[in-house]
Parts: sequence; structure tokens; C-alpha cells
Amino acid sequence: MYSRDEEMDIENWVIRPLRHDDYESICELSKSIWEGNDYLPEVFHQWVDSPGLFLCIEDISTHQVIATGKYSYLEDGSGILEGLRVHENFRGQHLSWQICKELFKKAIEDRKKGRVSQIVNCTHVTNEASLHISTSVGFTIKKKFLILELQQEYNHDKVLNIESWQPSFEEFMQQPYFSSTQGLLAQNFVVQGMNLALFQAMQKTATFAKVNGCPGFYDNHHGWYNVALDPTPASIYDWLLYANKQPGVMDCLAFVLPQPAQIEGLKKLPVIPCTNYEPDLLYLTMTE
Ligand SMILES: CC(C)(COP(=O)(O)OP(=O)(O)OC[C@H]1O[C@@H](n2cnc3c(N)ncnc32)[C@H](O)[C@@H]1OP(=O)(O)O)[C@@H](O)C(=O)NCCC(=O)NCCS
Repeated sequence: MYSRDEEMDIENWVIRPLRHDDYESICELSKSIWEGNDYLPEVFHQWVDSPGLFLCIEDISTHQVIATGKYSYLEDGSGILEGLRVHENFRGQHLSWQICKELFKKAIEDRKKGRVSQIVNCTHVTNEASLHISTSVGFTIKKKFLILELQQEYNHDKVLNIESWQPSFEEFMQQPYFSSTQGLLAQNFVVQGMNLALFQAMQKTATFAKVNGCPGFYDNHHGWYNVALDPTPASIYDWLLYANKQPGVMDCLAFVLPQPAQIEGLKKLPVIPCTNYEPDLLYLTMTE
């Protein structure tokens, strides 16, 4: 086993950028991550082609990719560390540190040069390994979102009134959701400040509408998510219901920042939290 600071055994393993022809190996690695629900195979080719740094550790004897990590640029000017994975047979050997060291080096250089405004990271509150790595290198928790999903066993027979909605950027930004999040948007496990560049990117992929009068949208970003932009408990439920009924949409989640009184309202509705109504998506930023 390596310590955090020790150099990797270059006889057996090599650290290198990922290539398109690593796809099969990535699928193999991802099989054991989150009960096979890992989004990495879905974004893999796009990540290989995107700027930043997408690294892996290859086991030289088998040519198998056994660990990955990605450093990406977000529309709000942040650099994000994401996609950290270690094959289940190779965990506990500090391989994730070897990847992180390289990604941090690049991120910190970028920060010094002004290429990124800050370095960020997102994780789930129960992911002890990920949280330990992040806090060890100086990340602190900036915001905690509550993740909600539709209760599957319930008979959701509510009739919804749907209107089309094509907001301008100004109208979009004025929605109450952004005052509750201080301008942040959680796109699944990527959190960033809402701005024009992000809005324009979302216009290519998201579906905007009004559900029972509440404006919002659903989108796919490393999995499906939806946002009720006037996030009362009733509209959060209506949006979860609407988005999850759309063709091709599966397991669409909501990421919200409710007040205590709103949580009492949510508890009366057929929605369920991932972690006991404790905010569970953690948005971390690196403090300098
Ligand atoms: C998170 C993950 C990449 C860690 O990889 P790993 O090879 O097991 O971790 P490492 O051996 O490099 O250990 C990194 C640090 O985390 C600590 N750690 C590892 N597992 C831990 C756990 N379950 N609880 C607490 N700390 C843990 C290690 O002790 C080490 O810290 P140290 O240097 O202070 O001793 C791996 O568990 C994984 O692929 N998980 C599934 C995907 C995932 O959750 N990725 C993160 C997404 S945000």
C-alpha cells in the first residue's frame, strides 16, 4: 500500500490521459460503482474530448483501467474535480490520491494563472472516502442541497396542467429558486453559479414548462434532474411527477434548499428524500 505522498509503483501501474479506446475498460470499472448506475460510460467520449484533464491509472500487466479522475471547467468559471473512481478490487491502496495529486496540481496552477476563479467539488454526505479526500486538501462545505425523488409505490394519479414556457435569461434569473440558493444551480452532482453562459447551454438540452402554474425545467446532466423554480412543497412534487412521466426520462431527481416549514410540507407528500430529510448533496469549495 502507498502512503498519500509516496510515488506510485511505475513497474506495475502507469498514470496517463484517457483515450477513446479505453471505453470497454471504463464500462468494466463502472459495473461495480453505484450498483451499475454510474454515469461515467455515458459521458466518457465527451470527457475525453473536453478541455481539462481526464486521467486514469492503467494496470500494465492487464492493460485494464483501474482508476479515473476528471478536472473540468464549468460555465461559472470554476474548475471542478469529478469522476473519481477506483475499481473495487484495487481500493484502499491510495490510488485515488495518485490521481487527485495530478488533478489538484493542474487546478491549482489554473487558479494561480486566473484560468479558473475557484476550485470546487461535489459529493454525497455518506461518501466518507470522497469527503475525507476533499477535506484533507482544504475543501470546505459551502452549501448542502436536499435530494428528493418520487415515491415509487404511490399511485400518482394527480392531473397536471402543463403550459409551454420559453423564458428570457432575465425572467429565468428572477425566479424564487435562485434567491433560496444564492444563485447556485445543482445539476445533479455538479453545482455552479447560474449565469448567461450556463443558461444558453441549458437552452440546448433542457425542457422548460409551467406545471400547475409553476415555472421550471428538467434536464439530463450526469442523470436526470428537475427544478421547480417557485419551490413550494406542492410545486416540487408536481415537477417531480411531471418530469418522471416524460418519455425517456428515468429516476429524475430534485435538488432543493427548503426551509424547515417546507420540509414539514414535503413530508406530507409522496416524495422521498435520499437521506432522512438531511441535506445530502454537498457543494465544496477549496479555501486558500
Ligand atoms: C472514493 C474512491 C475513489 C476512493 O478510492 P480508494 O482507492 O478506496 O481510496 P484511497 O485508498 O486512495 O484512499 C483515499 C483516502 O480516503 C480514505 N478512505 C478510503 N475509504 C474510506 C472510507 N470508506 N471511509 C473513510 N475514509 C476512507 C483513505 O484512508 C485515504 O485517506 P488517508 O490518505 O488519510 O489514509 C472509491 O471508493 C470509489 O471509487 N468509490 C465509488 C465512486 C465514488 O464514490 N467516487 C467519488 C465520487 S464524488
